[in-house]
Amino acid sequence: MAELAHDHSYPFALNRLSKPAGAEICGLDLTKPLDDVTRDALIIALLENHVLAIRDQDLTSDQQMAVTACFGKPETHVFHDATGSKGPKVHTVNNLDRDGKPSRRPMTFGSFFWHTDKSYHEIPSFATFLHARELPPEGGDTEFANMYLAYDALDNEMKEKISDLRAFHSWEANRRNTGNDPATEEEKKVRPPVVHPIVRTHPDTGLKTIYVGIHTDSIEGMDREEGVDLLKQLYRHATQRQFVYTHQWKPGDLVIWDNRCLLHRVLGNYEMDKHRRILHRSVVIGTKPE
Ligand code: OGA
Ligand code: MN
Repeated sequence: MAELAHDHSYPFALNRLSKPAGAEICGLDLTKPLDDVTRDALIIALLENHVLAIRDQDLTSDQQMAVTACFGKPETHVFHDATGSKGPKVHTVNNLDRDGKPSRRPMTFGSFFWHTDKSYHEIPSFATFLHARELPPEGGDTEFANMYLAYDALDNEMKEKISDLRAFHSWEANRRNTGNDPATEEEKKVRPPVVHPIVRTHPDTGLKTIYVGIHTDSIEGMDREEGVDLLKQLYRHATQRQFVYTHQWKPGDLVIWDNRCLLHRVLGNYEMDKHRRILHRSVVIGTKPE
């Protein structure tokens, strides 16, 4: 892991945006290749601030992928285009319906619930990159909840109770919990449930976090109802306001976040059927939660 001198002097201007998380970075031009010093400093800044908003970018998809690849191995998104090509690519997050119109009921809306990306996979995401391309005049914020703070704030009895528990996460639970169309038999086969510890140790900082969210289904070895209740209790605890940073997007933002210590969700706090909200997304794959 990259190391930075103790004085924390970054080779860019960085301002913390809130107590729980978030820093903005100004004065970088990511259309140019990142040098090693800047890259290492960005990785440290991400570990310290959990969410980075790099301001004033205007990146092509290739430029965004180049930045993404500096943080690790890009996640493959099953991507179908006219040529049938697949592979790690920038894809689009938007509020459009099947006809391409802005909508209150866009094609996917799972992101409106607190989650950590791809926790229903054996190896979930490390960092997600969202680059604002079209924004509503205001709103459409993204919220981030700090799971280090949430863990620390649990009382000792609860810490003890959950210390060795593991939860099932699944695509099926995601569909059910978000009110999306139920998972098909095919989807259930391709994405069977996985089990992860509820208390996750961050692989780079060594600190403990709560690892639950809208993709969690039940607790291993526990009566189903009891497990669901405990997961709900942890979800409510973990997303209290004092743990949350709300990102208000500015045109040109490239936001990078660390899924290993955060929950996040998008807010529908704008006229979704009037304004387009379009972001380019890329992801770096993480490690098996421990
Ligand atoms: C995501 C996500 C939130 C947003 O891309 O993983 O949850 O603000 N997006 O669009
Ligand atoms: Mn997400």
